[in-house]
Amino acid sequence: MSHSVSAAIGIDRQRLAQLRAREDAAFARRTPRSAALRARAAAHLPNSVPMSWMSNLYPTPPIYAESGRGASFRDVDGNGYLDFNVCDLSMTVGFGNEIVASTLAAQARRGTQFLLATDDAIAVAEQLAERMHHPYWQFTLSASGANTEVIRAARFLTGRSRIIIFGGHYHGHIDETLVREELGRVHADNPGLSPGAAAHTTLLQFNDLAALERTLAAGDVALVLTEPALTNCNVVLPTAGFHRGLRELTKRHGTLLCLDEAHTFQFAYGGLVTAWQLNADFIVLGKGLGTGVSFGLYGMSESVGAAYARHIDLYVEPRGMATGGTTYATPLATATARAALEQILTADAYTRVETFGKRLADGLEAVFTRRSLPWRAFRCGPRSGYCLAPQLPLNGREAALSLDYDLINARRIYMANRGVWDAVSSAGPQASLAHTAADIDRYVELADAFLGEIN
Ligand SMILES: Cc1ncc(COP(=O)(O)O)c(C=O)c1O
Repeated sequence: MSHSVSAAIGIDRQRLAQLRAREDAAFARRTPRSAALRARAAAHLPNSVPMSWMSNLYPTPPIYAESGRGASFRDVDGNGYLDFNVCDLSMTVGFGNEIVASTLAAQARRGTQFLLATDDAIAVAEQLAERMHHPYWQFTLSASGANTEVIRAARFLTGRSRIIIFGGHYHGHIDETLVREELGRVHADNPGLSPGAAAHTTLLQFNDLAALERTLAAGDVALVLTEPALTNCNVVLPTAGFHRGLRELTKRHGTLLCLDEAHTFQFAYGGLVTAWQLNADFIVLGKGLGTGVSFGLYGMSESVGAAYARHIDLYVEPRGMATGGTTYATPLATATARAALEQILTADAYTRVETFGKRLADGLEAVFTRRSLPWRAFRCGPRSGYCLAPQLPLNGREAALSLDYDLINARRIYMANRGVWDAVSSAGPQASLAHTAADIDRYVELADAFLGEIN
């Protein structure tokens, strides 16, 4: 995602820079044990972390976690943080969730892996089929893995190579989707990707049905891959009629449609496909359904699932699609998914968390009004955030105008020093199932105090 220059009307940049310097120093004083661990880790872990991008997750040097309970976690220095990042939506159920913990422990004793299915996988597929109206399901290790297999399946089933994604997208670390647009051309966004990977990807703007129709008319598009609402560039909501048009056009041009609900499954019971009654050929889920346990899934429509089932890859000729992996769909993963669906991710739980999302957005918007900032709060189920303009964005390009990294990073450190862990920079704060109303109010109170220092 490109760094953007935002209008951010109402912010005093000099005071922001002074605040940042003060808060950086305070953060360093609060985290001496993490500093010592970083020094030790540097000998064997590049950038002192097991995945290098963890070192960029926060604008400060990385800290190390010790434990978590409910909506809060502690670092190795004993600092507590009320988590509004929700581990990028992989911990919606909260830290140390008793149901997840006891399910994992019981299954670990029975066996973590047989390389055979257990009946939990069937129960998960039944649950998801009922909630999301897609009859066939396959497990992967992550949402990235699910999107990879969906792209492969769509190419195989249509005999076409091109995929369409929308600006402001993120679908995982996949060669074909790690692209950005510059001067009207699509480029690989990172070094080391497969040569030519970006050559088969077209990047359009969300909510632009005319451009979509023109591109689909070429007849070479295997798949349109999109989130129902974009959530990786703050939030972009679909305009009225966008999803209906998207479905009609993809069907008319023989293109398959995948709705990636890795995030938005957490936004409504049955995801946004159910809440908004959307129809797609594939649905992608991930992030362990918010349990923190590694697994992803994808659902398929009746016709796609039937075709898929005829083309397995092992020990047969002609070869079918390459899917799966040794530690995908383990009994641990399927038992956790089943427990989460049956006991935690209930309709009541989603209603509760949506109420908190509204409280968060209302609270932030009241702060903006009180401080005469012409901003809006993003709203999508439990997710909110800071739209630094009076109008909500219609696409990724417009949404990028609210990604003011100086402002975001200063806010995150300010909050961390006061016991709140704010969202990653491309997202906004999000309520989880473990939050209470008082937690939400604490976030809003700190947002108000932060803005009070710089406007
Ligand atoms: C919409 C969407 N799809 C896929 C992914 C990839 O998920 P993972 O990193 O768990 O594979 C993400 C990650 O943020 C995402 O937001």
